[in-house]
Amino acid sequence: MDKKIDQIKKEIKCFHMKTYNDLEIFRIKFLGKKKGILTILFKELKEVSIQKRKIYGKIINELKKEVQNKIKIFYSKNEIHNNNEKILKFDPTIPGKSIEIGSRHPLSIIKNKIIDLFMKIGFTYVDGPEIEDDWHNFTALNIPIFHPSRDMQDTFFLCKNPDILLRTHTSSVQIRYMKKHSPPFRVLSIGKVYRNETISSRSNFMFHQAEGFYIDRKVSFSDLKQTIYYLINSLFGEAKIRFRPSYFPFTEPSAEVDIYCDSGWIEIMGCGMIDPQVLKNVNIDSELYSGFAFGLGIERLSLIIYQMKDIRIYFDNDIRFLKQFKSEF
Ligand code: PHE
Repeated sequence: MDKKIDQIKKEIKCFHMKTYNDLEIFRIKFLGKKKGILTILFKELKEVSIQKRKIYGKIINELKKEVQNKIKIFYSKNEIHNNNEKILKFDPTIPGKSIEIGSRHPLSIIKNKIIDLFMKIGFTYVDGPEIEDDWHNFTALNIPIFHPSRDMQDTFFLCKNPDILLRTHTSSVQIRYMKKHSPPFRVLSIGKVYRNETISSRSNFMFHQAEGFYIDRKVSFSDLKQTIYYLINSLFGEAKIRFRPSYFPFTEPSAEVDIYCDSGWIEIMGCGMIDPQVLKNVNIDSELYSGFAFGLGIERLSLIIYQMKDIRIYFDNDIRFLKQFKSEF
């Protein structure tokens, strides 16, 4: 028995392990549940006398501890080794994966600013469809089929049904809203409009408009002027603006508003008192109610606010351009 134990001791000591697979072989060889050398020895103990059992039991237990220790040592060495390997593989000079943080589009910044300003003076914000029919975009606004002002607002028509078109202005929202609601109301709407125009630094086939209108008893031209002054002063501080007589089929009287910049006067919006005929078209009593409306080009406004020369850059989606804008909204 002693010889056998010495032999086992040697084997435990000399067993060379390199891999986790070697470790598993080592464990099974000595402690395997069925054929492990030490497991068998423990079983054999039952057959020897009690005195011997005590002595050998102790010895075999010590052998078991040696096996377990060797396993523990292997684990601790290899874990350190593995970690070192991971650390060695990590290259701190490789740049990390950066996440691009988006920012608001400049046109959205101005849109949100205008919405905020009009919410403060009791306006309601509504949206309207970009795909319109002839009646809402033209006819109801006093622009019958052969009216010359249709030429200035040529747009994109559906070949199969020329009654369906891309709206040329947000004034169609006036008609939609007035048809459904009874006055008094103050409404703001902002969105895309379309014109069949050549693309240049100042014009595009699509741009954004803000439409405002207010209908109540005794709304006057001075209410319109005050509202425009409030908007312009809030956006620009003390800016120089002028009201220039103009013509729109759906307002009477009508005016255009210009703002003074380094390069001279720039037209930024059309406005006027809503024509009584338009009110009649949507069944509003024009004897009782009057109102004003204005339509403002957002791109034009933002060229002035951000001192830019070309509106095409807004739609290039160049992240270097878009990143420069910070918004409070
Ligand atoms: N709809 C006009 C345009 O696009 C602007 C406008 C709106 C004028 C409201 C008067 C009143 O040119």
